[in-house]
Amino acid sequence: MADRTFAIAAIPADGVGKEVVAAGREVLDFVAAQSGGRFAFAWEEFPWGCEYYEKTGAMMDPDGLEILKAFDAIYFGAVGWPTVPDHVSLWGLRLHIAQNFDLWANVRPVTFLPGVQSPLRKADHTELDWVVIRENSEGEYAGLGGRNLAGRGPGNEVALQTALFTEKGSERIIRYAFDLARTRKVKKVASVTKSNAQQYGMVLWDEVFERVARDYPDVATESVLVDAMSAKFVLRPEDLSVVVASNLNADILSDLGSALAGSLGLAASANLNPERRYPSMFEPVHGSAPDIAGQGICNPIGAIASGALMLEHLGLVEEARRVEAAIAATTGAGYLTRDVGGTATTAELTSAIIGNLNRSR
Ligand SMILES: NC(=O)c1ccc[n+]([C@@H]2O[C@H](COP(=O)([O-])OP(=O)(O)OC[C@H]3O[C@@H](n4cnc5c(N)ncnc54)[C@H](O)[C@@H]3O)[C@@H](O)[C@H]2O)c1
Repeated sequence: MADRTFAIAAIPADGVGKEVVAAGREVLDFVAAQSGGRFAFAWEEFPWGCEYYEKTGAMMDPDGLEILKAFDAIYFGAVGWPTVPDHVSLWGLRLHIAQNFDLWANVRPVTFLPGVQSPLRKADHTELDWVVIRENSEGEYAGLGGRNLAGRGPGNEVALQTALFTEKGSERIIRYAFDLARTRKVKKVASVTKSNAQQYGMVLWDEVFERVARDYPDVATESVLVDAMSAKFVLRPEDLSVVVASNLNADILSDLGSALAGSLGLAASANLNPERRYPSMFEPVHGSAPDIAGQGICNPIGAIASGALMLEHLGLVEEARRVEAAIAATTGAGYLTRDVGGTATTAELTSAIIGNLNRSR
């Protein structure tokens, strides 16, 4: 028996989600086995996702949230398959969990790995390392609105999609970003909105940012419009440290960030309930990649690095850093999957990472 056993709910869901969760579990179990009984993982895997939907008409068990509450963390793959409308699959599983468990802080590091070619020329000689902090509970993904409000008949449908910005919701994520910036080498927070065009919610966000910034005089700040920030990601990424933005804007910016780092398959994320009232959820940024699913060639690094974020959340900080170092040692030695120009399979890359963990003891 291990001194401490963490109960982890695995939800691989769809497409490559299944492949990368299997790879991540292998790595995490190896780290636990190396701990000499200090800790272990007790996994329970749930079959929720699009196949489950086709059989039952629901994306997850109706008691799913109640079941998940008992776990220390959730390890998630990716949801979505062409047979189910994306808004049904996403809202029925990932957003359902994130919103009901108030996983309001979505942490998405942008990590440039050795051996992985970035489309940015600067990445060859400039140290680049930033993290996108995404507001994960409201904003544009609040799910507020409706369709066909006036019932005006074919060709005249009306749809309303409302973004929700609350002072409390904005303040907690902005404070999270500042607290994180204090732990980093470059103590700087960039806040991203589109408050010139969206004059209510995003102006409220800007005002909260200005107010909270006064409590952190040691942290540099800037407020940037999302269009300008997209350009800055490409042209002046060395200026970035912590980037905080609303649900939609940060979702888009973090895909841009991971593409700049070399591939969507590399990007990790943590969906945190920082108060720990509910289990937090760890998942790669990418989706279910139906175009390459089932071929054993997807990049498991995003999921494995998300596992490292889970280790950190569980208090296993040294182990988290070891997994990150093993990933870097692996790509640095030229083991790369096809999305980043290599030929390694998912299984080969996972074994190489485990090999590096074994050597690093
Ligand atoms: N968090 C999530 O669960 C999540 C996120 C985004 C999209 N989705 C869903 O995923 C499905 C596909 O969406 P999409 O095509 O827009 O995005 P995607 O992230 O699945 O794929 C975009 C591109 O990146 C590539 N890619 C993604 N993950 C990869 C990996 N691990 N290794 C190598 N290449 C990888 C894919 O092959 C594809 O070319 C949709 O149903 C969508 O709703 C889910």
